[in-house]
Order: sequence, then C-alpha cells, then structure tokens
Amino acid sequence: MKARIVTLPGDYIGPEITAQAVKALEAVAAKYGHEFLFDERRLGGASIDAYGVPLTEETLAACNEADAVLMGSVGGPKWDGVEAARRPEKGLLALRKGMGVFANLRPCTIHPQLSSACPLRPELLKEPIDILILRELTGDIYFGRRWRAEDGRSATDEMAYSAMEVERLARKGFEMAGKRRGRLCSVDKANVLECSRLWRETVERLSGEYPDVEVTYMYVDNAAMQLILHPAQFDVMITGNLFGDILSDESAAIAGSLGMMPSASLGSGTRGLYEPIHGSAPDIAGRDIANPLGTILSGALLLRHSLGLEKEAAALERAVERVLDEGYRTADILSPGMKKVGCTQMGDLVAARI
Ligand code: IPM
Ligand code: MG
Repeated sequence: MKARIVTLPGDYIGPEITAQAVKALEAVAAKYGHEFLFDERRLGGASIDAYGVPLTEETLAACNEADAVLMGSVGGPKWDGVEAARRPEKGLLALRKGMGVFANLRPCTIHPQLSSACPLRPELLKEPIDILILRELTGDIYFGRRWRAEDGRSATDEMAYSAMEVERLARKGFEMAGKRRGRLCSVDKANVLECSRLWRETVERLSGEYPDVEVTYMYVDNAAMQLILHPAQFDVMITGNLFGDILSDESAAIAGSLGMMPSASLGSGTRGLYEPIHGSAPDIAGRDIANPLGTILSGALLLRHSLGLEKEAAALERAVERVLDEGYRTADILSPGMKKVGCTQMGDLVAARI
C-alpha cells in the first residue's frame, strides 16, 4: 500500500529517536512491498525558531491530509522564557485538538527481558501485566480557560467536560475492553469534582449497551495506589486528560522505563498521531544515547491502527523483542551483563531484524 506519513521530530532528542522509527518503518515497507512517503515538518520549539509559533496552520493542514503522523518530542529549557500562549507544548496540544484525536492509547506491558527494571517486588509480577490506559486527550483542564488575577496573586484553570466528549472516549474503552479481557475500569474523582460525576453517569448509562464488559469505578487516588499494589487487576482503564497524564507516567515506571512506552492518539477515523510518552530529555540530547524503542513501538501502533497493517505491526514488535532477547540495551534500561548500545545502533539493530 501507499501511505503518507508526516513526521514531526520536534526538539532535543526528538530528531534522534524519530529517525530510528522512520528507519524501522522503511525496513517494514521494503520487506512487505509498501510505499511510505515521509513528509518532515516542524513542531514545538523547532517551529518557534523557524516560524515564531509552535504549530503553523500549514503544518496542521499537512497532518490532517496525511494517513498518519509520527512525532518525537517537544519542549525544553531553550524556550522556557517564551510566553505561555506560545510555548512548545502549546503546539502539541493544538495539534491534538486540531487533528481531533480524542482517544490516547497508552499500553503498559512488561517486556519479560526488562523485568529487572521494574521497581515492584517480583511477587507482584507473577500474574501478567497488560494494561491499556485510554486517556481522553482533547478536553479537561488542559483546554479550559485559564487566567491570572490582575495582581498576579491568584490563578484559575477551568476543568470542563461535555457528555459527548466522555461518551466517545468511553465507547472506545468499551469496544477495546470487549476485544481484550472484558474489564473496564473508569477512573475519576466523582467524590469531589462535578466533571467526574458527569463522567461516571455517562459511563454508567453506556454500560448497559456492552453487557460483555464488566465495569468498575475507581477514584483516581485509589487507582494510583492500586496500580502499584496490584497492577495485574487492570485491563482497560479509561480516564480524563489530566488523570491519564499522571497515571500513564506511573504505569511507565512499572514497565521499567519511560523510554519504552509508545502511544497512539485516535479520533473518529483511522488517521492518528503517534508519539512516545516521554519528553524531550534535554540532558541527553545530541549524544546518541536516547532510547528510540518507545518511538519505534509507536511506529508499530501506526501500522496497526492507521494503516491496518497488523502483520507488519506484529513483525516490528517482534523485531524489538528479538533485539532485547539478544541483550542489547540503551543506557536507560541497561543491566549487568547486557550489551550497551546507542540510539542509532538500536535503530539499526531493530531495522535489520524485520
Ligand atoms: C504527555 C506529555 C504532554 C501532556 C505535555 C508535553 C504537554 O506530558 O504527552 O504525556 O501533558 O499531555
Ligand atoms: Mg505526560
């Protein structure tokens, strides 16, 4: 098949890791006879430097015309002085909103080769951990109004959700749970927040339509604790934008390294935005030591969810497993006796195993 993929390498380690994912996708295309056309654009700080804004209308339009978008990472100290409305992160938020990708899939599994990197006691890992965090991505306190009082001494950020926003996310959660182990945990703070009460009511209303899915409700504080105490209890978790941001970083700690974690952001069609969940890691940028596997695995999600290439997605995921089986590790996941490699070399190893 022919597919157009916009790449947005972004800032600091972003270009290094994105290049490895492109390399892996090119290897997939060569092996399986596809033609992927990559169109590289700027986002975040790189866009501020070139055009004065973190996301241009032209870039957004290109993303909305592509089959899929692959992103690296944005932001960093270079743009710390930039006013709030033009920060690099604003470009990413505007991109998510502008592409209408309201459902952010953040899978958390423990690669058996990396189980020593998991900070939990081994007995907690006896049952397999395979969690899909489904984070709402275009609403919540991320997109509400925010302002500072004139005297500068108080500030407000509005949290807002509509039933429609909750419903479309929840439906994806029910559908995905139905294809997995049939368990959906809805995470909110309904004992305090009105948005959460609307969230819970909406999920309760929909649950009757999905009799095969068992729904549970959990307050976010308890969910944060349960993730550590008994992670194997979770199948699909649905939650709002802010809670999902926090819980997905927590799940990354369980998985051993933020550097391993991919994500897919989907809207109502197949077009999606794919990015690792980690940030731009300014402290290690330009040294070719970053872990590209989160971005490479995001490429696998791109093949699966936007291009419908399941076989190819699985082949890419298998290539990553093989490289780990063979003992290759970037610095963040290194353990005694393993072979330390850099970012480019890790990309080469994966590409060669497709
Ligand atoms: C993430 C990041 C972003 C978010 C930042 C960079 C705006 O933390 O993708 O999890 O908060 O959504
Ligand atoms: Mg985050």
